[in-house]
Amino acid sequence: MEQQQKKKSILSGIQPTGVFTLGNYIGAVKNWAPMQDEFDCAYMIADLHAITVRQDPKVFKQQILSCYALLLSCGIDPEKSIVFIQSQNKNHAQLSWVLSCYTQFGELSRMTQFKDKSAKHADNVNAGLFTYPSLMAADILLYQADLVPVGADQTQHLELTRNIANRFNGIYGNVFKIPEGYVPKAGAKIMSLADPTKKMSKSDENPNACILILDEKDQIIKKFKRAVTDSEMEVCYREGKDGINNLMTIYGAVTGKSMDEITAEFAGKGYGDFKVAVGEAVADHLRPVREEYARLMADKAYLESCYRKGAELSERISRRTLEKVMKKVGFIL
Ligand code: TYM
Repeated sequence: MEQQQKKKSILSGIQPTGVFTLGNYIGAVKNWAPMQDEFDCAYMIADLHAITVRQDPKVFKQQILSCYALLLSCGIDPEKSIVFIQSQNKNHAQLSWVLSCYTQFGELSRMTQFKDKSAKHADNVNAGLFTYPSLMAADILLYQADLVPVGADQTQHLELTRNIANRFNGIYGNVFKIPEGYVPKAGAKIMSLADPTKKMSKSDENPNACILILDEKDQIIKKFKRAVTDSEMEVCYREGKDGINNLMTIYGAVTGKSMDEITAEFAGKGYGDFKVAVGEAVADHLRPVREEYARLMADKAYLESCYRKGAELSERISRRTLEKVMKKVGFIL
């Protein structure tokens, strides 16, 4: 009988630092659910990563659960995928330490996210913020992931993961699979609505800069109406039209329409009509996510059963890689 081919595996994660933005959603999470049938997927709440910035314990705990519920609301199915909370599987922290000894100071110093975050939190440039990419490498390599679906801002971390894996394999033989990034062609970098030259980010101080996926319809439309565009009139995708390009990308992502179709749809109409249409399309697209989230948050027992199962499964799978690594390095098991 023909041997069944093993499915490729996927690992990705998101930090529980608040409700996901439309950027997180379009650049990453939205693409995770459709992968579940084709691949073996593991998706995690990256709570260990989140403490590189100071968190209020009570709020943090609540956010971890709420982000877990959000993942499920976005169509991640714990019956199909391993959906877990990073800190509940100690293998991540352990492999992270080992890998940090195979990561060079110079490599970590070149990480743009480290430079940005240390400028932003100048009073707390801690060692975790610096070694964060070694933890991310551990997350990915523990699962022998083939593909890592992320937005464009994670590609540098992914490249470093590949370098660490290659270095380790070069010393000890074939221990890690070398993962590939899976960055969407459109929407890998959704920009701020207030300044379309900057990435949309949860930590933006201007609340109009960013759509959160639990925002109400009227809030969403209001934010899009205020979106910064240019002084022209034509809805078309062209260099220099950062604001319109961003809105077209968002509209395309939630409606499935191409740039040409969008241009034709709004020919002869002004930016005002276009912005309202984008707002409505986004709000309608996100309505089921908001409804499912409300339902899940009212069923804490179900959420707990899911993350407990996720912790167990992720531990079991990742233990294989961790034990292999420990043996190769020479530890006594
Ligand atoms: P995080 O929590 O910052 O973001 C989660 C995902 O959202 C993507 N993203 C965006 N995509 C498009 N436009 C935007 N404006 C935008 N903002 C964020 C990110 O690229 C990411 O895919 N270090 C990771 C979490 C992590 C991880 C991992 C990811 C930890 N371990 C292992 C993959 C594999 C992070 O901070 O993502």
